[in-house]
Amino acid sequence: MGSHYLSTVSLIVTALSLGILVAAVAGNFNRDFDVTWGDGRAKILNNGGLLTLSLDKASGSGFQSKNEYLFGQIDMQIKLVAGNSAGTVTAYYLSSQGATHDEIDFEFLGNLSGDPYILHTNVFSQGKGNREQQFYLWFDPTADFHTYSILWNPQRIIFSVDGTPIREFKNLESRGVSFPKNQPMRIYSSLWNADDWATRGGLVKTDWSHAPFTASYRNFNANACVVSSGSNSCSTARTATSANNNNNNKAWLSQELDSTSLERMRWVQKKYMIYNYCADAKRFPQGLPTECTI
Ligand SMILES: *[C@@H]1O[C@H](CO)[C@@H](O)[C@H](O)[C@H]1NC(C)=O
Repeated sequence: MGSHYLSTVSLIVTALSLGILVAAVAGNFNRDFDVTWGDGRAKILNNGGLLTLSLDKASGSGFQSKNEYLFGQIDMQIKLVAGNSAGTVTAYYLSSQGATHDEIDFEFLGNLSGDPYILHTNVFSQGKGNREQQFYLWFDPTADFHTYSILWNPQRIIFSVDGTPIREFKNLESRGVSFPKNQPMRIYSSLWNADDWATRGGLVKTDWSHAPFTASYRNFNANACVVSSGSNSCSTARTATSANNNNNNKAWLSQELDSTSLERMRWVQKKYMIYNYCADAKRFPQGLPTECTI
């Protein structure tokens, strides 16, 4: 009896500590991502701990997640192209496929040395985007890695930078605004030349004498529901399909902004937002999109 009891206790203790380990294991680029284009310009280094994308005159490069996710708290640390990055765009986004796809975008528009990057965000639902918000950052995103996060649950999408929320897109389906919630999405990233529009609206061109341009990625973490062959890891309790898919803590599935986070978001929007589609009445002569008026 006694030893039985003890082994049960140690089993539980083992299970608990495993659970904690599972939650703490960071992603690995070899395990979690495929390089999809760039002919050797994308590299996975340090046994999967680091990924670099590069861009030269001939081509950019990109990668995508092996998994498809339907909701998640997804973090990535990115260090952007340093120096004269004018004309370059580093895109980091979630997307499903097809004409009525959903998409959640971060895009980083490069600039001349010392001039600010623009962080461009957008949300597509059922193929419809046109929901741009743009920000300057409160730090130099090329000097070090910073964490860019997407919280996507059935009620809301929250974009965060180093834990500070910068944008929230709420589920307003009850008011007739479609919301991404049925189509699983992959994570994509790419570094490419967009000097026809990216920097000062296309006035500043890419200076190829500075190529190759490089952006780096590390510490990917997805606390997310993985969809594979029609089954969702979040609906089958305690069957973690990958080490970084921690099904034992799904707090993020109903997470919302508390008053402190809301205040911080308002501060960022007040000080650093440089474009908001919801404030662009000229662009919508028929009236602002519904989500802007609620
Ligand atoms: C680049 O710098 C200029 C001048 O400061 C600024 O107007 C612009 O918003 C910056 N960012 C981009 C991506 O053009």
